[in-house]
Amino acid sequence: MWRYPATVLAHRGGGTLAPENTLAGVREGMARGFRAIEYDVMLARDGVPVVMHDPYLGRTVVGSGHVFDYDARELAAMDAGAWFGRQFAGEPVPLFVEFAQFCKAHGVWMNIEIKPAPGFDVQTGEVVAKIAAAMFAGEAWQPLLSSFSHEALKAALAVAPAVPRAYLFDELPPDWESRAREVDAVAIHANQRHLTQEQARAVKSAGFGLFCYTVNTAERARELLIWGIDAFCTDRIDLIGANFR
Ligand code: G3P
Ligand code: MG
Repeated sequence: MWRYPATVLAHRGGGTLAPENTLAGVREGMARGFRAIEYDVMLARDGVPVVMHDPYLGRTVVGSGHVFDYDARELAAMDAGAWFGRQFAGEPVPLFVEFAQFCKAHGVWMNIEIKPAPGFDVQTGEVVAKIAAAMFAGEAWQPLLSSFSHEALKAALAVAPAVPRAYLFDELPPDWESRAREVDAVAIHANQRHLTQEQARAVKSAGFGLFCYTVNTAERARELLIWGIDAFCTDRIDLIGANFR
């Protein structure tokens, strides 16, 4: 069941209007009325979670090597904005705790994607879930933790069962439902490219929420909503508004 306050989420913080997974992106979305985002979290060398998509530097962060080659404070001093545009130069890699606190303080609801670097599934799931549980204990709206990693979701369930989980799939495998039940997921997050109307029906009639990534045209968004999906994230927050229905 989908009990969350948003249908349209900005993907990676602020879609394609600002560098992904940065506070600048969240601010850009907020300026356009967005109060819900998806973003990615992984662990630095010291086990401190940071907001990053790739497990290595070079694409969005100036530098080289892996995220786990650096401590979080070192990453937080790196430039995650210059690749996107000169006006974003110096925009840092956010620490997860600070990023989540900013969102909480500004009423921005979060789908936190647990994105473990290879081999760090359990540790990443535990750390992210524990922090989310501590930060949102007693709050009306809990963030939604999602992951492609079964191990990360199982670890999150073990340490913080009260923080809801969603199972991310590219293509839905035949055993999607048993996998989702094993981690006590409340929702299925599916790649819109592969989702069929029949699968959408099956997910909904099994009682799960259904979220799609990443929907970048209004036409497709409309079609998926007619199929009964509950929510989606988009890169194109310029084309698809926060109140799109
Ligand atoms: O959470 C949905 C989506 O973000 C998954 O893919 O690679 O953009 O993190 P990716
Ligand atoms: Mg993601």
